[in-house]
Amino acid sequence: MAGSANLNIMMKAARKAARGLVKDFGEVENLQVSAKSAGDFVSRADIQAEAVLKEELLGARPTYGWLGEEGGGQDGQDPTRRWIVDPLDGTTNFLHGMPHWAISIALEHKGEIVAGVVYDAAKDEMFYAERGEGAWLNDSKRLRVSSRHRMIESVFATGVPFAGSTDLPATLKDLARLMPACSGVRRWGAASLDLAYVAAGRYEGFWERGLHSWDIAAGLLIVKEAGGFVQAIDPEDSVLDSGSIIASNEPIFDQFSKVIRNS
Ligand code: IPD
Repeated sequence: MAGSANLNIMMKAARKAARGLVKDFGEVENLQVSAKSAGDFVSRADIQAEAVLKEELLGARPTYGWLGEEGGGQDGQDPTRRWIVDPLDGTTNFLHGMPHWAISIALEHKGEIVAGVVYDAAKDEMFYAERGEGAWLNDSKRLRVSSRHRMIESVFATGVPFAGSTDLPATLKDLARLMPACSGVRRWGAASLDLAYVAAGRYEGFWERGLHSWDIAAGLLIVKEAGGFVQAIDPEDSVLDSGSIIASNEPIFDQFSKVIRNS
């Protein structure tokens, strides 16, 4: 799809930051002998990727605001527009040498996400969308959510809370209700890609609590533009503010959200 100037800036920035991350990912294997040095190396790679993205995105649009996982927020002269960026979603996968991580870039305008890019550099899969223009993979593949409508044939994904998160009991209860009713649950460790996979029809749905806006801002637009539904787990909440999300194709949404909300 021939995207807008902003979308092209986002994809160019993602490809540039990805070059450094792919090189660093190749090094991670050599560092596995020392868990500490691998951890330090990956956090440096993450910070460096955010610096490249910031230079590219704010270089091209100097009046926009910024929210990044590593460097935090910064107001722009234009208070209506903001980049929301996760330079390395799936950090734990990256650290362990697993090729499932992504760069996530969203553009927010007046509180709405209007463009999103999720780039899986290890597999060279660029997922992207603009509001009203559909969702796409690489040069020309139009994304559509899956058409499966039976829970028992459906695959879902989530993130299982780690490191003492208070969301763990709720997620375990979700799993106990959902797993007997479906065809499988995946935990692949990169929320932006989980959303991109819902958009691509690879999973029927995804849910998670305790996320940050940079993990999901781009992916939620990609799901909506692929014909999917996205809501917060409490439907009264905003997805980005609450960091809780249910996303799926349309035919499964009612059944799936009932199972998750019955906690
Ligand atoms: C994490 C991933 C993971 C999700 C975590 C996030 P990060 O993001 O998206 O899938 O379960 O909640 O924090 O830390 O790798 O950018």
